[in-house]
Amino acid sequence: MDGLMVEFNESLPFDRALYKADIQGSITFAKGLRQLNLLSENELVQVIQGLESVEKEWDEGKFVIRASIDEDIHTANERRLAELIGASIAGKLHTGRSRNEQIATDMRLWARPKLAELAAVMKELLGVCAARAKSEIDIVMPGYTHLQRAQPIRWSHWLLSHATFIMGDLKRLEGVQERIESCPLGVGALAGNSFGINRGFLASDLGFSTIHPNSLAAVADRDFVVEILQWSSLMMAHLSRLSEDLIIYSTAEFGFVSVADAYSTGSSLMPQKKNPDSLELIRGKTGRVMGQASGFLSTIKSLPSAYNKDLQESVEPLLDCVKTSFHSLRIILGVLSTLKINPNRMKSALTADMLATDVADYLVMKGVPFRETHHIAGSVVRKAEELGVSIAEVGLGDLKQISPLFDSDVAHVFDFEKSVERRSAQGGTSRASVLAQISAIEAFLAKQ
Ligand code: ARG
Repeated sequence: MDGLMVEFNESLPFDRALYKADIQGSITFAKGLRQLNLLSENELVQVIQGLESVEKEWDEGKFVIRASIDEDIHTANERRLAELIGASIAGKLHTGRSRNEQIATDMRLWARPKLAELAAVMKELLGVCAARAKSEIDIVMPGYTHLQRAQPIRWSHWLLSHATFIMGDLKRLEGVQERIESCPLGVGALAGNSFGINRGFLASDLGFSTIHPNSLAAVADRDFVVEILQWSSLMMAHLSRLSEDLIIYSTAEFGFVSVADAYSTGSSLMPQKKNPDSLELIRGKTGRVMGQASGFLSTIKSLPSAYNKDLQESVEPLLDCVKTSFHSLRIILGVLSTLKINPNRMKSALTADMLATDVADYLVMKGVPFRETHHIAGSVVRKAEELGVSIAEVGLGDLKQISPLFDSDVAHVFDFEKSVERRSAQGGTSRASVLAQISAIEAFLAKQ
């Protein structure tokens, strides 16, 4: 092979991350061969011990890679096994087996515990959101649409809005975890295993709940990679939105929150700067993960059936996106756990015009159709502008001129706490609705 082609072809520089999964798969496969008498008991023992020694070499960083001989993790492990126990026994391990089924199995084996780790950190994150939402429930801040001040909401309600997306991601992840549980081992290169290997045994020995049903599909199937990449893309989009909110809220102009030093950086030039790099990196890495998802989808488009080397391009995005997602989740967990909030800044950002909807609602309760009340409340806003005061300061006389239905009880409208408490239907920002959301998260976490 051409020198560059050797480098171009080899995957060991990245698929070495799968070494444990590869050895685990080989040990199971050897047991399957033993059941068929294709390995003697003594040979099985030697193969297992040899593979365990290879694993230990990797664990301890002592595995010596043979440049341009070790093409991928499968050939590297087998080459080393042969050196340790002799080629005559090691050479039997690959009986009826193909690297095509190995890589498809290894990637699933590698991903399973990683998905569980992702789920675990997401649960921690939900726990932090719920705990903060509970202890900080009194704090009211402006809620925004189009980044324009809209209506007052509880700070907790904002936190829980992000928790709601994380909860959705967690439930979707459970679906991905279910579908990865299909074991390709024992399918051969494409057509099936000709020695009658017990695939049910291989699957259960590796802890899979089911076998992949078709050998030709099994060697081509990277749907689980696509699912993980797409799942990560959406999950990261949610972390990116959360990050973007926090970046904005941490500016001096807002000053609602302050990111802990542990998750901030300074400027090399401006001594006063404290930058929310943690959050910017999460926002930035979202693009990276989305690129990997669309990149790998493009790779599998137009592939013919069964295994093609293009599929090797699934390994790096999988490894990278799982790591990026996990790190991003851990970082946002740290940011949220240590975030300082400034309730006074939130409170002082509340302005009476954010209660214009409440003025309209007040008139609805007096029997005026909402379309009309919306118009009337608009006139109040205009009047306030004209007078150079806030809508809470427009006198009752002026209000009565706009609509005779205004009365002295209108004073109750201009109260932010009362405004959030009026949003008491399920899912709203009132105390009871927020507490119900918290209970739902707590109940979900307790079930786990
Ligand atoms: N390194 C390959 C991969 O990652 C393993 C399978 C190779 N199979 C083959 N027939 N060349 O996809």
